[in-house]
Amino acid sequence: MTDEREITLTVNGTEHTIEVEPRRLLVHAIREDLDLTGTHIGCDTGNCGACTVLRDGEPIKSCMMFATQADGSEILTVEGMEDLPEAGGDLHPLQEGFREEHGLQCGYCTPGMLMSGKAILDENPDPDEAEIREGISGNLCRCTGYQNIVSSIEYAADKLDEKAAADGGVVAESGESDTGAEPDTDANTDAARDSAAAFDCGVENCCGGPAADSTYEHIEGPDDRFDDLNGELDRDTTEETDE
Ligand code: FES
Ligand code: FES
Repeated sequence: MTDEREITLTVNGTEHTIEVEPRRLLVHAIREDLDLTGTHIGCDTGNCGACTVLRDGEPIKSCMMFATQADGSEILTVEGMEDLPEAGGDLHPLQEGFREEHGLQCGYCTPGMLMSGKAILDENPDPDEAEIREGISGNLCRCTGYQNIVSSIEYAADKLDEKAAADGGVVAESGESDTGAEPDTDANTDAARDSAAAFDCGVENCCGGPAADSTYEHIEGPDDRFDDLNGELDRDTTEETDE
């Protein structure tokens, strides 16, 4: 028996209503139900940050949240960056920075890095190197050694500052986000974990969500709705291709 729930997500300014199983992860809803494959999956365990998106202005690892938990949220993915006001109809300064400062090689981590970079600059338009490194500490890159990524974010900060000066204002005040919520540069916060842990999918022995210690053990538990699956997780375990 499939118990699907209807949820509404506003992604990059467009509202979508989709039906998802309660255990469907947000990253799978974004990639497979909405066909926005710019958000990558690297580990599916909350370690790599490739799946980072902004939810109501806060960076979250979308493999650590059920899609139903994001019902009613505003989501920003890498596909929406060029439509942001600070992009001016072209590449967002962060995207430009990654191009100019060679902040990517294979590019697999780049969408997540861009989203974390945006969260950093939303919170603090003039971060120093240590603050940038702290802000991207939840994002792993296997290629660049991070220095060029830091330089890319610094480039974007300078560009945004120049733009703000030219406009006679400030693009983003410290501590504010253009999507309204207080950003947090740690996408795997205690609050996020608490939120996931508090989630109840409705199954009698719900594990409490993907962030809980007993990850997915409920699949093999006594609930016969899951016994039918013969222990197979309904999660996409196929190899990801670079998008
Ligand atoms: S896919 Fe690695 S943290 Fe989500
Ligand atoms: S550019 Fe390849 S993983 Fe970061």
